[in-house]
Amino acid sequence: MVKRRFGVAIIGCGIISLEHVKAYQAFSEQCEIKAVCDLLPEKASKLANFIGGNVRVYTDFKEVISREDIDIVSICTPPFAHKEAVIAAFTAGKHVLCEKPLAASLADCDEMIEVATKNNRKLAVSFQYRYRQDFNKMKHILNRGSLERVTFGQLNGLYWRGKSYYEVDWRGKWNTECGGVTINHEIHMLDIFLWLMGEVESVSAEIETVLHDIEVEDVSMAVLRFSNGAIGQVNGTVSSVIGDVSMSISGENKGVSFPLKYHALIENDGGFPIQDQQGIEELEKVANEIEVGTSDHRGPVGDLLQAIISDEDPIVNGIEARKVIEVITAIYKSATQGKRVYLPIDKNDPWYSTTGLQRLVKKGKQNSLPTEQSG
Ligand SMILES: NC(=O)c1ccc[n+]([C@@H]2O[C@H](COP(=O)([O-])OP(=O)(O)OC[C@H]3O[C@@H](n4cnc5c(N)ncnc54)[C@H](O)[C@@H]3O)[C@@H](O)[C@H]2O)c1
Repeated sequence: MVKRRFGVAIIGCGIISLEHVKAYQAFSEQCEIKAVCDLLPEKASKLANFIGGNVRVYTDFKEVISREDIDIVSICTPPFAHKEAVIAAFTAGKHVLCEKPLAASLADCDEMIEVATKNNRKLAVSFQYRYRQDFNKMKHILNRGSLERVTFGQLNGLYWRGKSYYEVDWRGKWNTECGGVTINHEIHMLDIFLWLMGEVESVSAEIETVLHDIEVEDVSMAVLRFSNGAIGQVNGTVSSVIGDVSMSISGENKGVSFPLKYHALIENDGGFPIQDQQGIEELEKVANEIEVGTSDHRGPVGDLLQAIISDEDPIVNGIEARKVIEVITAIYKSATQGKRVYLPIDKNDPWYSTTGLQRLVKKGKQNSLPTEQSG
């Protein structure tokens, strides 16, 4: 008997949907795209034409998820629209691959995770960097303890976006983009940084809107204290003319950085550094124990397919994807209140919910002054 391939539907047929399509097509022995859906029928039709075959076009996602031959739904809608479609898909018995950010708040993440569990369905989130060879080499070095005690880390996610970028209706607004550069651009590198550095204890941050005429932040800077004693600094912006996407992690004498490079030092008599070639080679040797990896959406799609087949959790499941949302929530809270925020963020904290966060958060060019707000 020929085993049926998983039926796939794509909801939201904008920029990122094409990456999902290409990734599912790379796993064509296991799955087949059967439906595409967008509020704008011309966008759905365009994607259906690209895919070819018997792909049906929809404008209402509820019709798509009621189809029995759909097993997996990719949510490629703007951030504010993730939750409704994800919950409806789980309730209809589908597995879900949701685009980042999983949701606008911790409360929404928790609701999605809970509904997935209740319906015994898999939730994977598109953090495609998690499957890359370079980041997995860095993770392997840390897992093996090759840096010994991690002391300091630094992350830059410095980009530039022009005026017309924010003319897309959902961008630039708290209730639709659900935040600015922190939650939408820096999130990928921040997710990797947290994955490598470990559990965050506290966050001190600033956000600002320096260049664009938008409600959300276009600059974000934070100092993170980790429970292993390390300290880290993270910067994100869409207002930097000088682009820089980089990361460094230091142990006492050894370090790794992205773009991938290994570092090792010994000190001379005066305490100044001398390159330790043997130490660098040791790090390279450990890193080279990892040779696999993929840099595009084949990572999350393959992860979800494997999770369904083996009935295990995806590597980047809801709980993993929630971690970065907690730190981002703390960045917004700290920047608004002008004080350090300790994790975890409690369910009774007004910043836990989307309505609380979006009501309280500093918007646009408002001054960031310490206030007496509770929580
Ligand atoms: N993983 C990545 O590297 C990456 C890159 C870009 C975007 N994204 C994420 O992907 C998501 C979509 O971003 P995009 O750039 O493709 O946006 P986009 O505006 O190009 O596309 C979104 C599409 O969703 C449609 N849509 C909105 N609500 C809908 C609904 N209820 N039902 C059906 N269709 C609906 C819109 O009409 C639009 O065509 C966002 O969450 C974004 O953060 C991820």
